[in-house]
Amino acid sequence: MIILIGGEKGGTGKSTLTINLAVCRAIDNKEVLIVDADKQGTTNLWSSLRNEKTINPQITCIQKQGKQLHKDIISLSDKYETIIIDAGGRDSVELRSAMLVADKFVTPIRASQSDAWTLDNLEQLITQALVINEDLKTFIVINQGPTNPAISEIEEIKGLLEEFKSFLLVKSIIRDRISFRHALKEGLGVIELKPFDKKAINEITELYKEIFK
Ligand SMILES: Nc1ncnc2c1ncn2[C@@H]1O[C@H](COP(=O)(O)OP(=O)(O)OP(=O)(O)O)[C@@H](O)[C@H]1O
Ligand SMILES: [Mg+2]
Repeated sequence: MIILIGGEKGGTGKSTLTINLAVCRAIDNKEVLIVDADKQGTTNLWSSLRNEKTINPQITCIQKQGKQLHKDIISLSDKYETIIIDAGGRDSVELRSAMLVADKFVTPIRASQSDAWTLDNLEQLITQALVINEDLKTFIVINQGPTNPAISEIEEIKGLLEEFKSFLLVKSIIRDRISFRHALKEGLGVIELKPFDKKAINEITELYKEIFK
């Protein structure tokens, strides 16, 4: 299974979701490879830290860039049951290339108007990719949603998303929780971080099930 995580906006949680879904998958006893296709290398830094601390399960991460990314991914897919690609937050050759071979494209957005505005262009990219990769499924994840239920931004964003027919909004909303930041800097997924943050674990586990079912 090839999962692509990307979008057209910085800081929406692509690396966070890449890392956390990879940890869930590895704990589920699947052979996982992370491909960090973002020059920033956040996911690769997380992986180096995890390796230095010899945290199990070990998760292999490689950095790959360029317009031939799809070919590299296809050859790696013989060796790994799951490949998760962090394509960064821009319309890039890596994003376009990986869209040609991914089974699922996951794009996180925060519940903000400026994030929603990036979806028009993203939808065009998906339409182009579907010409070649007709089984590509695209999911939107609301990340860093406010924890205060009185804030109505999530309902507003759900309303806006109704006009985008190419995207499937996942049910699980990932809220803004400090444990996601703590886990990242410890080389962990949030499901491994102690003391356990049950709400964060529940959110990421539900997301994992929705994406990988
Ligand atoms: N659900 C969350 N709760 C709390 N903090 C979060 C959450 N998701 C992401 N963050 C934090 O927000 C920051 C940006 O997240 P992340 O690096 O995953 O975004 P990104 O989309 O990969 O960014 P970029 O576009 O720069 O690659 C990080 O400090 C991360 O720890
Ligand atoms: Mg990133």
